[in-house]
Amino acid sequence: MTDVSSVGPQPGDDRPILTNRQGHQVYDNQNQRTVGARGPATLENYQFLEKISHFDRERIPERVVHARGTTSYGYFEAYGTFGDEPISRYTRAKLFQEPGKRTDVAVRFSTVIGGRDSSEAARDPRGFAVKFYTEDGNWDLVGNNLGVFFIRDAIKFPDVIHSLKPDPVTFRQEPGRIFDFMSQTPESMHMLVNLFSPRGIPADYRHMQGFGVNTYKWENQEGDSRLVKYHWIPKQGVRSMTAEDAAAVQALDLGHATRDLHEAIERGDFPEWELRVQMMSDDDHPELDFDPLDDTKVWPENEFPPMPVGRMVLNRNVANNFAENEQISFGTGVLVDGLDFSDDKMLVGRTFSYSDTQRHRVGPNYLQLPVNQAKHAEVRTNQRDGQMTYFVDGQGENPHVNYEPSITGGLREGQYPTYDEQGPVISGRLTRKRIPRTNDYTQAGQRYMLMEQWERDDLVRNFVDLLSQASRPVQERMVWHFLMVEDDLGLRVGEGLGISPGDVSHLKPLVGQDLTDEDRERLSKLG
Ligand code: HEM
Repeated sequence: MTDVSSVGPQPGDDRPILTNRQGHQVYDNQNQRTVGARGPATLENYQFLEKISHFDRERIPERVVHARGTTSYGYFEAYGTFGDEPISRYTRAKLFQEPGKRTDVAVRFSTVIGGRDSSEAARDPRGFAVKFYTEDGNWDLVGNNLGVFFIRDAIKFPDVIHSLKPDPVTFRQEPGRIFDFMSQTPESMHMLVNLFSPRGIPADYRHMQGFGVNTYKWENQEGDSRLVKYHWIPKQGVRSMTAEDAAAVQALDLGHATRDLHEAIERGDFPEWELRVQMMSDDDHPELDFDPLDDTKVWPENEFPPMPVGRMVLNRNVANNFAENEQISFGTGVLVDGLDFSDDKMLVGRTFSYSDTQRHRVGPNYLQLPVNQAKHAEVRTNQRDGQMTYFVDGQGENPHVNYEPSITGGLREGQYPTYDEQGPVISGRLTRKRIPRTNDYTQAGQRYMLMEQWERDDLVRNFVDLLSQASRPVQERMVWHFLMVEDDLGLRVGEGLGISPGDVSHLKPLVGQDLTDEDRERLSKLG
């Protein structure tokens, strides 16, 4: 006989009792059920098998990019205006209309390339994803901290990410692979000049900007559309780290940015960002030397001033990291009435990719999870079943009718919008072409010239350090591109690598692509 008087609830211990997921009380969580004290174990041991087999499935696939991140909650408060005008002149999106109107948000900040437990002090773009739980359903604004991106066509995304991820053989991030790809991708120069400057390692998440990066549209009640870009400006200011600062931080803590944000919110020091919007008419803008749908470009702020439209405050941490941070799911297709896509070729690819990966990563019913639900809008669909169905979405009176149309009940369609036809008329033939106005170097050069001297020094040092690990042909091609960006940048990186303009001026650096007239003109100056 076992003496059971020393196990189980002790007098005065009123903590809740542990159960399994079937609701059975667990009276011994220390010992498996065995034949005799020394075993063997039995296979009908439901409690043990449930516990272990659930543990075996605790991990879901990490995000293929942006695996490391942190989520917090707060609100967005609208100003109701765009400059001196009511915002309704430009968008009918309800969350922006009334001054002071608040909308709940969830925000996930992230790094891109490292795995779920990687360093938050890495040189890497940062993700800045905001989910607005509006009365018209959810709106996700999925952006980054640098304002531009490496590529402008979604078909190149797996390649750019493969070049940045660890080598498939050595499993190390290899600069030679990164710059091999980038040297064949001149549109990446603007992003690289940002990423390898001190801006490439934000001090933490509270002190960084956010940008929608891709071009979206706003539409008003009359159906007039305009192109827009979004900017988040931190009230806390912007702070960055040099490579040395970052090395010191990550020597002690791989998750300093998550800790910083979590602790600030816990002590009531709520971080805040202002949302500003740039706008231009919805057309091709042939007068510009770049394409407004090109996400490797910024819109000059003197011509398209960013106008404040609201502010966002983060004031609550997650209660459970897995449920609310690991399973939160954002996507660029998640827009509400009054906000729309542009024809930006990255945006369309992203819009397919996010929900596709989330069906794989989280499961087909990922939108039923509390953090992903449209919690301030009613959800009624005829979608049914699938793995992990949590409940039946809102339905009509007659539960037999999970289809539409029907004369016996079920759900009906909403009011047809009067503004269904909107935006410019588009025509063209099916093709595969680069956009005409690539202009890959001008803005990268302007960015370089805007930097303070210490930032340029840091940029050059970072390029030289990493390119030293690349092969000579890759180094030469990168120096060639840097000379196209800005002579000073190319000369200095070249000097660091022992490469002069004369060594590279004969190169045709891009495989399978002709130089533009502009490229040729720059190159002829080098001598
Ligand atoms: C996450 C695809 C470009 C910002 C992701 C994920 C995928 C993806 C598959 C993982 C999502 C998940 O597992 O939930 C793509 C594709 C792109 C692209 C195909 C280009 C065609 C961009 C750009 C930005 C960006 C340009 C910045 C403006 C983000 C952010 C996340 C993310 C912030 C993390 C969202 C979160 O915190 O859960 N992307 N991406 N992506 N992407 Fe992209």
